[in-house]
Amino acid sequence: MRKIAVLTGAGMSVESGLSTFRGGGGLWDEYPVEKVATPEGYAADPSLVLSFYNKRRRELLLVEPNEGHRLVAQLEKDNNVVVITQNVDDLHERAGSTNVIHLHGELMKVCSSRNPNDSRYIKRLSPEAPEITLGDLADDGSQLRPFIVWFGEAVPLMEDAIKAVSDIDVFIIIGTSLNVYPAAGLLNYIPYGVPVYLIDPNNVPVNGVCNLTHIRSGASDGMRKIINDCL
Ligand code: APR
Repeated sequence: MRKIAVLTGAGMSVESGLSTFRGGGGLWDEYPVEKVATPEGYAADPSLVLSFYNKRRRELLLVEPNEGHRLVAQLEKDNNVVVITQNVDDLHERAGSTNVIHLHGELMKVCSSRNPNDSRYIKRLSPEAPEITLGDLADDGSQLRPFIVWFGEAVPLMEDAIKAVSDIDVFIIIGTSLNVYPAAGLLNYIPYGVPVYLIDPNNVPVNGVCNLTHIRSGASDGMRKIINDCL
């Protein structure tokens, strides 16, 4: 079986109705990133940060995976697939993908403010009670916080992602502006000569990646094209 790695970003979930971060109407236009997605922002105004992610969770519960997510999941029928996503939504899993590395955390999970990556204190919120507020405590007694990797924090799953990419046969990139490191650095670990398919309606910085085919379309059309014409 071929080994396929799929690297996804916010563009993957646009057709489900979720916003991207950058570009016109992106989330970071509406909410200053330093206030809602950094440890400093959380220290300065934890309530604002908790309510930002409460809102994101409520939005997520209203949307469904799109055809693109389903086609990525379908790849598992004939291939050994790892999805490496920068997205904190759970749409890949809801579409049926079984091997998903969430580099930037998971929106439906919360963790300890003192030990964010200690699995003993990570828990999944239920769709019936998707919010946390000041005073909700983790089992270590600290304030519960979103299980999200903020800017300036370590990316603990990066090693797993690098390992997964290092011996693949096909690499697919969908809907990421490749602005954020270390995630964007994964491109440096693609084995030489491996076919790389990029699905994005816009230009993204992929200079230096060899054997690249850019499919200028949305996630669903792009995945359909790859499955029909390229794999
Ligand atoms: N299908 C595919 N791609 C699309 C679509 C679509 N329908 N619509 C837009 N795009 C593309 C845009 O052209 C852009 O290249 O999706 C990309 C989205 O880029 P960003 O908003 O920068 O999102 P992403 O790359 O995932 O951001 C990385 O930044 O703020 C952080 O932690 C956050 O994980 C996020 C990280």
